[in-house]
Amino acid sequence: MRDLNKYKMKVFLYTLFLLLIPGFLSAEDGSQLWLRYQPLPSEQVKNLQAGITSLITDESNVNVAISELRSAWKQLTGAELTLACSLQEHSLIMGTSKSKLIQSLGLKRELQVLGKDGFIIRTMKYKGKKHMVLASQGDCGVLYAVFNLLRTMQTNIPFPPVLDVKEAPLYKIRILNHWDNLDGTVERGYAGHSLWQWDDLPGKLSPRYKEYARANASLGINGSVLNNVNASPEILNVAYLLKVKALANVFRPYGIRVYLSVNFSSPTALSGLPTSDPLNKEVQQWWKAKAKEIYALIPDFGGFLVKANSEGLPGPQDFGRTHADGANMLADALKPYHGIVMWRAFVYKSGMDDRAGQAYKEFLPLDGKFRSNVILQVKNGPIDFQPREPISPLFGALKQTPVMPEFQITQEYLGESNHLVYLAPLYKECLDSDTYYSGKGSTVARVTDGTLFPNFLTAIAGVANIGEDTNWCGHSFAQANWYAFGRLAWNHRLTSEQIADEWIKLTFNNQKDFVNPVKEMMLTSREAAVNYMMPLGLHHLFAWGHHYGPEPWCAVEGARPDWLPSYYHKADSLGIGFDRTMNGSSAVGQYNSPLREEYNELNTCPEQLILWFHHVPWSYEMKNGRTLWFNLCYTYDKGVQQVRSFQKIWDRIEPYVDVQRFQQVQSRLKIQSKDAVWWKDACLLYFQTYSRLTIPYDIERPVNELDDLKKIKLNLKHHN
Ligand code: GCU
Repeated sequence: MRDLNKYKMKVFLYTLFLLLIPGFLSAEDGSQLWLRYQPLPSEQVKNLQAGITSLITDESNVNVAISELRSAWKQLTGAELTLACSLQEHSLIMGTSKSKLIQSLGLKRELQVLGKDGFIIRTMKYKGKKHMVLASQGDCGVLYAVFNLLRTMQTNIPFPPVLDVKEAPLYKIRILNHWDNLDGTVERGYAGHSLWQWDDLPGKLSPRYKEYARANASLGINGSVLNNVNASPEILNVAYLLKVKALANVFRPYGIRVYLSVNFSSPTALSGLPTSDPLNKEVQQWWKAKAKEIYALIPDFGGFLVKANSEGLPGPQDFGRTHADGANMLADALKPYHGIVMWRAFVYKSGMDDRAGQAYKEFLPLDGKFRSNVILQVKNGPIDFQPREPISPLFGALKQTPVMPEFQITQEYLGESNHLVYLAPLYKECLDSDTYYSGKGSTVARVTDGTLFPNFLTAIAGVANIGEDTNWCGHSFAQANWYAFGRLAWNHRLTSEQIADEWIKLTFNNQKDFVNPVKEMMLTSREAAVNYMMPLGLHHLFAWGHHYGPEPWCAVEGARPDWLPSYYHKADSLGIGFDRTMNGSSAVGQYNSPLREEYNELNTCPEQLILWFHHVPWSYEMKNGRTLWFNLCYTYDKGVQQVRSFQKIWDRIEPYVDVQRFQQVQSRLKIQSKDAVWWKDACLLYFQTYSRLTIPYDIERPVNELDDLKKIKLNLKHHN
C-alpha cells in the first residue's frame, strides 16, 4: 500500500515536472496548423492594447471576420477585444465598401481597384482620432485582412504601431484539387483517409470541415475541387450532390467555392445514354440539365475539372471529337450560371512519341477554339511532378487560351509523408521561369496571372496533401507546402524564404535560434531531394509498384514503355540521358527562342537539366572540370550529406520545440536519411554497370549490394 502511494506521488511529481516544461503545457499535435495564436510577449501585448482598444463595424455580414479576430485576440493578448457601438480613440474599424463607416473614410475608390478579395489595413486619422482600419470591397476580403493582421502581429516583432497595407490577390481562382475518392481513399494521399466523410454527409458534419475552410481562408485559397480527377460518375448523382451542397454550405462563409471533377462519360454511366459524344444533342441536354440541378442546390458552384482521354479515362476523342469539343460542351452547360471548366492538359499516349512533347502537340492546334469560360490546367512540367522538370512548353505557347499552372502539394514523387521537402522553391522555380512568350521577362507567373494575357479567368491549382490525420498532412513540415501554395497563389512575388519564415514562426515559435536553422533546412530541402533522387535532369527512376523508392533497372514484361524508368534515363555504355534536342525527339523545339537554343546545346543547357535534354557521355567534362560520372556520384552523395545535416539541425533545436512534433520529425528524418542512401546506392550501383567507372574515393561508399536492392519490394498501398 505504501509502495502504491509512493508510486502515485512519483507519477504526480513527474506529471507536474512535465507540465512545467514549455511545450507540454498544451498538446502540440499539429491540428491547429499555423493558426495556433500563442500568447504574445507582454511588451507586445502592451503595444497592441495601446494601439487598438475596441472593435467597431456597422455590418453584420463580416461576422466570420469579427469572430476570428476576437478569438485570436483573446488567445494572443489574454484580453477581450470589445465590440463598441461608437467610435472611440484607437478603434479598429472593420467593414466592406458598403459600410457607412468605411465610406465616410473615403476608401471606396481605392477598394474598388483592389477588387472584392483585396483589402486595406491602414492606420488613419478620423474625426481627430487615430484608428486602425480593415476594409475591403467584399466580405471575404475583410476576413483576408483579419488573417493578414493576425499574421503580422505574430511574425513582425515588435508589431508596427502604424500600418499601411494594400493587398490584392494575383490570381482570381486559388484552388486546391483533392484527389479524394468516394470510398474514402485518397489517390497519392499520405495523410490518412479523405477528410470528406461521404457516408455521414449530408446529415453529419465533421467539425474539421469548418477548420479546413478557415485554414484555407487564412491563406486566401478560395476554391476546392472535392474529388479525384480520376472521377467516378457517381459524384453527379443527386445523393452525392446533396453531400456536396452540405460541404459548400460550411465553406461559403470562408469564401471557398466548391468544384467537382467529372467523368466525361457520365451521361452513359449515370443515365444509360447510348453515347457521351459531346456533339450529340441528347448528351448536351443531359449536361445542361445536370448543371441546372447542381446550381439549384449550390448557387455559387464553381465548375468542373476534367481529366479526359488521359491514362485510360474517357473523353471526347472516344467519339472522334477534340478536347475543345468536349470542354466547350461542358462550358456551354455551365455558362448561364457563370461556372467554369478547368480542362487538364495532362495527356500522353503510349507509342514512339516523346511523352514530354505530347500535350503541346495535342493542344497547340486547339488554341483559340475554347469558350471563354474554359481554362487549360497545365502541370508545372511536361512529364509529371518530378523532383525537377523544366517548365511545360505550353505556358509559352498558347496565345488565345488561358492557362493555369497545376502544382502538386502532396509529395507523390518526393518521399510521400516521410521526407521533409519544402516545395516553395519548386513552385517558384516554375513561376519565375521565363517562357519568352512575348519577349524577355514573360515568366510563367506573368503569363498566367493576367499580366501578359489579359483574361477574366486567372487561376492556379495545387493537388492537396490533406487527409484525416490529426495534423492534416502526415509530416509536420508537409503543412508548410499547403501554406506555401496558398501564399504563392495569393502573391507569387513572395520569396520562398519569406514564406518559410512566416510559417515557422506561426507553426512553431519566434526564437531566432530556432527559426534560422530550421529555415535553412527547409530552403535547401528540395535541392537535397533532387540530389539524392534524380539530379542533373534525371527523372522518373521510380519503382513500378510505387513512386517512393528507386528502381532504375525496372523492367516489366509487356508494360507500357513510357511507364518504365529506362524510357527516361536511357543509360548505356556511352552515357545517360534523354536526347530531346533537334537531333533527338525535338521536344526542345517546343520552347520559344532563346530557350530552345539554350536547351538544345549541350554546353549552354543548364546543368541541372542536362540529362533531361541530352544523352551525355559518361566522360563529358562539366563546368567544374569534372566528368559527368564524377558529378553524378558527387551530387548523389551531396544529397545524402544534406539530409544528415538536417538531422543535426533538428536534433540541436530540440529545446525549442514540443516533444510530440520534435519526435515525429526526428523519426521521419531518420527514414529520409536511410532512403537517401537507398536512392544513392541504387542509382550509382546500377548506372555503374553501364559507366564501368569507379565511384570517386572521397565520397561515402555504397553500403548496399545492387542485387539486394533489386530484391526490395515495398508493400505500399499506393500503386503506379
Ligand atoms: C500521376 C499520378 C496519378 C494521377 C495522374 C494525374 O500520373 O500518378 O495518380 O492520376 O498523375 O495527374 O491525373
